[in-house]
Amino acid sequence: MWGNMFKLAKKIFYKIVGINPYVDRFVRYHDPRKYWQNRGGDLYFSEQEEVQTRTLRSEYITSRLKQYPYRRLLEIGCGYGKQLKNLADGKVILIGCDFSRPQLLKAKDYCKGMPLRLVEADAEFVPLKSKSVDLAFSSAVILHNNYRKAQAIVSEMIRVSRRFLAHNEDTDVTFSRYGYDLCKTYERLGFKIRESGTIPCEADPSITQFTVAELPSEQIIVRPEDVPLAFHKEIKTASV
Ligand SMILES: C[S@@+](CC[C@H](N)C(=O)[O-])C[C@H]1O[C@@H](n2cnc3c(N)ncnc32)[C@H](O)[C@@H]1O
Repeated sequence: MWGNMFKLAKKIFYKIVGINPYVDRFVRYHDPRKYWQNRGGDLYFSEQEEVQTRTLRSEYITSRLKQYPYRRLLEIGCGYGKQLKNLADGKVILIGCDFSRPQLLKAKDYCKGMPLRLVEADAEFVPLKSKSVDLAFSSAVILHNNYRKAQAIVSEMIRVSRRFLAHNEDTDVTFSRYGYDLCKTYERLGFKIRESGTIPCEADPSITQFTVAELPSEQIIVRPEDVPLAFHKEIKTASV
């Protein structure tokens, strides 16, 4: 009985908090790493595997990625390895990085038998040499990081990748999502956009974005503070 009452009280509390998205974010998402330590692993795995469109989306984005020539691919925020498993073909070298240990432990199990290197690290500081992969990829990761951190992650992906940057990052805003537009960001940097569009198999494709950009052939360093990270919907200040 006490358990049910506690669950109900929690539900009512989150309903009230949810009225204001900024309060909601502060309450539920003030420490993203802690959030992902708690939600990661079996809980996140079953949540995702229950939703059929997650699997369709994964098949869609990984089939798009396979069109690009790469030997070494890094996925930052790899979770339990849903995307990496679909990318494995026995030829490419795959590296997954995540700051949630439960997610990585689940990945170890889910991707058993695959040649995969898993790294526990914050995507802001990936422990890989510059230009050591051909393609750096993120799926639902940058969107979960505040502006300064998201800039640092994009800068780090540019540092480690030799050629391609690919993102499956939704553009809506919720308590844990910031609504960035990676296509617009790379256009601002002058990178070549190889493709960018919505993902057709989702219930609401309009909030999705899949983008692949190509780095310029000359070596480029973009400091975190210089990443011109764009929001999908720019906030307009009302003119008085
Ligand atoms: C929504 S899940 C997506 C997992 C996986 N990319 C997928 O598509 O199934 C977000 C993942 O990103 C990780 N993450 C979020 N911010 C991160 C950061 N700054 N550094 C490393 N991992 C991060 C979380 O731990 C979580 O595993």
